[in-house]
Amino acid sequence: MAAPGAALRPLSRAVLTASPALRVAPCRLHQSLLNRQSPSLSSASRSPLTSHTQTRHSSYHSPEPSSNTPNARKKVTMHTLRNLYKKGEPIAMITAHDFPSARAADESGMDMVLVGDSLGMVAMGLENTTEVIIEEMLLHCRSVARGAKHAFLVGDLPMGSYEISPAQAVASSLRFIKEGHVHGVKIEGGEELAPTIKRITQAGIPVVGHIGLTPQRQNALGGFRVQGKTSASAIQLLRDALALQDAGVFMLVFEAMPPEVAALITSKLTVPSIGIGAGNGCSGQVLVQVDMLGNFQPGRFIPKFVKKYADVWGEATRGIIQYREEVKSRAFPSPEYTYPISKEELAKFEKTVDEMYRK
Ligand code: KIV
Repeated sequence: MAAPGAALRPLSRAVLTASPALRVAPCRLHQSLLNRQSPSLSSASRSPLTSHTQTRHSSYHSPEPSSNTPNARKKVTMHTLRNLYKKGEPIAMITAHDFPSARAADESGMDMVLVGDSLGMVAMGLENTTEVIIEEMLLHCRSVARGAKHAFLVGDLPMGSYEISPAQAVASSLRFIKEGHVHGVKIEGGEELAPTIKRITQAGIPVVGHIGLTPQRQNALGGFRVQGKTSASAIQLLRDALALQDAGVFMLVFEAMPPEVAALITSKLTVPSIGIGAGNGCSGQVLVQVDMLGNFQPGRFIPKFVKKYADVWGEATRGIIQYREEVKSRAFPSPEYTYPISKEELAKFEKTVDEMYRK
């Protein structure tokens, strides 16, 4: 991509022949100059009420709305989460995998944002989560951390980043904190992971356990199967939950288990449980954002526990189809989406071009 500053250079022959993007994209500095010159623009950018709808003059703008956007929300900490749990107020968690989805989650008041390895499927188009690697997770974590400034952020340790030894798990978890800028990590697995979790928490890193359906182990589980449907398997879930609690997790995700089982186990714990397909007897809930917003092609498999709260796919494709049609018919861009030039300057420009091409 061209450097944003390129558009500031004096108009030269090279610039005249450069790509259209170069010709119309002023950099941020240029933008602030434009704002200073135009009283109407600078007053718009000063008003908090209009800060979300300012006219944009470049795609190189900061993705942040103006800094004077009112936002009284306090940062969610372990202490906040503990208080919610003590009060019996359900903890609201959602996944995010990039800056906009993190922004939406944070602005909507979510207590926790999870950068789940489900992003392998919903953002990277993989068949399942087993292929996701730590570097991919860290890239997504950083983007989410830039967008979610208030929610408590958790990153998912991907398969292969923690199983070899507790030392490997601690090293991976430290990368999530230092390079991914999240506040804690989530790890899939039962009581066998207790020593590993103990080591991570001893390193001062908050850990969320994840039991029940653990998608990273879907090959061993025989697919994406509901867990705890027999008394023996429900007892194993209780054992897992208690062992992970003893190892130091501050929270447990319960995925795909009967609600009665999840509620009974929750009642035996002193840390919150977050359900996904585990009924409303848990201490909170989590859903994959892409799923609950309906941002997927019709026909894609969606688990039974997903409630669709919006139709982002429908709205996105409606908008893109209309844009395509308007490009084809030249209805877009109409004059309000273009930059004016004075009649005198245009006449001078046309005259110069005429002279240049007369020879
Ligand atoms: O990867 C993920 O998004 C998750 C949630 C489904 C809990 O682990």
